[in-house]
Amino acid sequence: MRTLVANGTIVTADQVIRTNVLIEDDRIVEIAPSIASPADHTIDASGKLVLPGGVDVHTHLDMPLGKIRTSDDFESGTIAAACGGTTTIIDFATQSKGQTLRQALDAWMKKADGKAAIDYGFHLVVTDLSDQVEAEMDKLVSEGVPSFKLFMAYPGRLMLDDGAIFRALVRTRENGGQVSIHAENGHVIDVLVKRALAAGHTAPKFHALTRPAGTEAEAVRRAIALAELAGAPVYLVHLSTAEAAEEVGAAKKRGLPVFGETCPQYLLLSEERYQEPGFAAAAYVMSPPLRTVADQDRLWRALAAGELDVVATDHCPFMMKGQKEIGLGDFSKIPNGAPGVEFRMSLLYDGGVRPGRLTLTRFVDVTSTAPARVFGLYPRKGTIAPGSDADLVIFDSDRAARISAATHHMRVDYNPYEGREVTGVAETVLSRGRTIVEQGRFVGRAGAGAFLRRAARERQDLG
Ligand code: URP
Ligand code: ZN
Ligand code: ZN
Repeated sequence: MRTLVANGTIVTADQVIRTNVLIEDDRIVEIAPSIASPADHTIDASGKLVLPGGVDVHTHLDMPLGKIRTSDDFESGTIAAACGGTTTIIDFATQSKGQTLRQALDAWMKKADGKAAIDYGFHLVVTDLSDQVEAEMDKLVSEGVPSFKLFMAYPGRLMLDDGAIFRALVRTRENGGQVSIHAENGHVIDVLVKRALAAGHTAPKFHALTRPAGTEAEAVRRAIALAELAGAPVYLVHLSTAEAAEEVGAAKKRGLPVFGETCPQYLLLSEERYQEPGFAAAAYVMSPPLRTVADQDRLWRALAAGELDVVATDHCPFMMKGQKEIGLGDFSKIPNGAPGVEFRMSLLYDGGVRPGRLTLTRFVDVTSTAPARVFGLYPRKGTIAPGSDADLVIFDSDRAARISAATHHMRVDYNPYEGREVTGVAETVLSRGRTIVEQGRFVGRAGAGAFLRRAARERQDLG
């Protein structure tokens, strides 16, 4: 089957060029202004942008949290992702205490199997680092699961101490894996939470007030220091503050392999949301919390300048009704997280490219190319080139849409961007050559997504 994507404006991380793309089955085979060989099917992309499929390396689908779980499973979450122009996700498989990493991976593979509508991989969240688990890390890296997430927050549940974080970093220096870190000082936050509750402060806004910017900045500094000591690369997830962005930028300037991620919510929503009346502000209870407009501004500049590398969503949806409500009367019990997987591309285009904060090429870099590179998927994913998977988004940069929970595909009863009008929407989406979204409508199949074995970094010379 040969498909021609004709007359579009192709955007990669390096160039913007009006040309044609020929697809044969699931791969791109030719890119040229005129293609002689006949196609079975032509998609007219004139007047549209043609982007590499979005790569969202931070989602939490079907994730258990106490007695509840995130409200999107691998079917609803990946269909929503596809409708927004994302064709690859990397989700998190969390090791329970006492579990092997293999058991955690198997459990998450089962959740995705037969359900995922787009391609997917997993990071392993390490919560219990025994010698045996360290050895397992090597095995997973060699089997195509080369990334691990560690928490500096949530003591007693997910947090690892500095010794364990250092051991994991050293191990990845040796085995070619990649550590990601959730950088917030969990012990300090716990003290602030206890003090707030003791003072009778129970409303959702106290979630943000007990996680001040300094708790992120301190942890980011410590994470970078530990990675430098270990001689390993490190990727910092969901950065929310100016100070964190500056720490990452400074580390890069010193030549360290430090990568930074932020999310649309930290670029576009601010702490004023916590002033919404009653329990409404629970919609924005996520960790780290929303910050100031000045932080947003600095994050945009850091993205444009290459101090930060990736925009992912940290899609972690909980229903307001019955789930967020668990925290009525105690902000510390509100499930942390917010939905976003469907709107990353439109929000970044509308909020970043249209006002001139990001160039088109940088937009593609932070939403597709850089995440594919950092996590071992490039050049199969993350670009438009002969040999790459035919994951393409025909993006209408002039079309406007209004974001609303009434029309979104995510399985969650609110949208943090409710009522916001965005210009720039995914019109047609191809996943390995198959059309899965047509005129914004999902026409793919749950279960058609494939598990992606990812490449390790080149082994480091241990000297
Ligand atoms: O609040 C958040 N971000 N929940 C998801 C888990 C995490 O920390 O990434
Ligand atoms: Zn996190
Ligand atoms: Zn997360």
